Amino acid sequence: MSKERGQWGTKLGFILAAVGSAVGLGNIWRYPYVAYENGGGAFLIPYFFALFTAGIPLMVLEYSIGHKFRGSTPMALARANKKWEWLGWWPSINSIIILMYYSMILGWALNYFFLAFSRGWGDDPNGFFFGQFLGLTDSPWNLGEMHWYILVAMAFIWFMNWYVCYKGISAGIEKFNKIVLPTLLVIMVIIVIRGLTLPGAVQGLETLLHPNWEKVLDYKVWIAAYGQIFFSLSIALGVMMTYASYLPKKTDIVNSAFMTALANSGFEFLAALGVFSILGYMANVQNVPVSEVVKGSIGLAFVVFPQGMNMMPGIFKVLLGVLFFGGLVFAGLTSSVSMVEAFSSPIIDKFGISRKKIVTTIAIVGFVISSVFATGAGLYFLDIIDNFINSFGLVGVGLMEAIIIGWFFGTHKVREHVNPISHYPLGRWWDVTVKYITPAVLIYMLTNNIIGNIVKPYGDYPISAVVILGWCVVAVTITAAVIIASKRWPEKTLTDYED
Ligand code: ALA
Repeated sequence: MSKERGQWGTKLGFILAAVGSAVGLGNIWRYPYVAYENGGGAFLIPYFFALFTAGIPLMVLEYSIGHKFRGSTPMALARANKKWEWLGWWPSINSIIILMYYSMILGWALNYFFLAFSRGWGDDPNGFFFGQFLGLTDSPWNLGEMHWYILVAMAFIWFMNWYVCYKGISAGIEKFNKIVLPTLLVIMVIIVIRGLTLPGAVQGLETLLHPNWEKVLDYKVWIAAYGQIFFSLSIALGVMMTYASYLPKKTDIVNSAFMTALANSGFEFLAALGVFSILGYMANVQNVPVSEVVKGSIGLAFVVFPQGMNMMPGIFKVLLGVLFFGGLVFAGLTSSVSMVEAFSSPIIDKFGISRKKIVTTIAIVGFVISSVFATGAGLYFLDIIDNFINSFGLVGVGLMEAIIIGWFFGTHKVREHVNPISHYPLGRWWDVTVKYITPAVLIYMLTNNIIGNIVKPYGDYPISAVVILGWCVVAVTITAAVIIASKRWPEKTLTDYED
């Protein structure tokens, strides 16, 4: 079976696909707001700490294991040791859960892309978004109405997921990223140049970069930084191991991991520069401090940005909105495709179902299940599931990966695999990080977060919603992973490969 696996056409194709997976809603929609809320300029300290103590080391780990064992995440881990297979299914299932709401945000972005041409959000983007557009109800258990325009947009997103993954690795995912990622870069550069040349831009950047040192002492800021790094780099989502399994035998692992991580951070800063210079401009027009313009994470993209468009001079009223929401759709699609791949590839590997069949099934079932997000309670579902999957699911997987590879598999075996094929050898710093630093920080964070969530349940939701959509969803992902891992592999699949 291993001989039939797809392969990237070129190494550049792989890097583009990996960066495409990493660069997504997390960079454009999430990062600017998270950075601002968590200390502005001072957030860079936990951010870089998280990048170097967990982001890059785990990226190297995921690339190495996927490449060495030449399999999707569960297959690679099962080949390392059958007992660890469940740890491969867990992130793959996380991916499919995230896709449910990810496709909803992309559906919103697609709607806003079209609205941007006529600034269809009117003079009150806040009222429009939560009222007319989302029809937000008063509780997660009150679904309200199904919004056909969100549903239709989500159908398109699932169609794209289906189309790209159906075509396979090189002809589908690689080709798609080769077109979309450079286009996205051009879009972002135009937004940033326009943003930086607006009056008030400097004020906006000062707000983003002005360090609030007190915040650095707050453990929640560190949790936010780790959460951001995991989500943004697509780590602990089953993507990177799977993507690395499609690499040819001789390929530079260390370099690729650093390139992916740094390109992702670069995109993140670019997005933040663009967004905050525009916020600075808005503050300037209204003659208020920037802090009065900035809103919550969802609000930033779908409320504050449209408000900004309303204030733009001339043609930029339309152009910037079209570019921004178009960019959001592009960025998100390359990530959502990677999450479909993270779930379909293991099923192809383990159950021998054809790519075409499984991708079609996932797209149809995924669309049907995610349609519940097109109701008036979709935003609540998103908020609760996103919080729990990120802070427990992703961090939990990252922690287990570090422990299993660091303490049981042996970091030296990873170095022995990657160093002969990598230009810059992996030094002992990596062993120390994966064995001690990453687990120590993640255990600390996870413990604090569990206690914090028990003491004060998340958000202002009914407790039943937090239990069912939060704790239960996390429990279901782990249980499902263990159950699927208990099924038998076809004979010889786990031994029949060349590392
Ligand atoms: N890495 C993807 C993002 O940042 C999931 O949106």
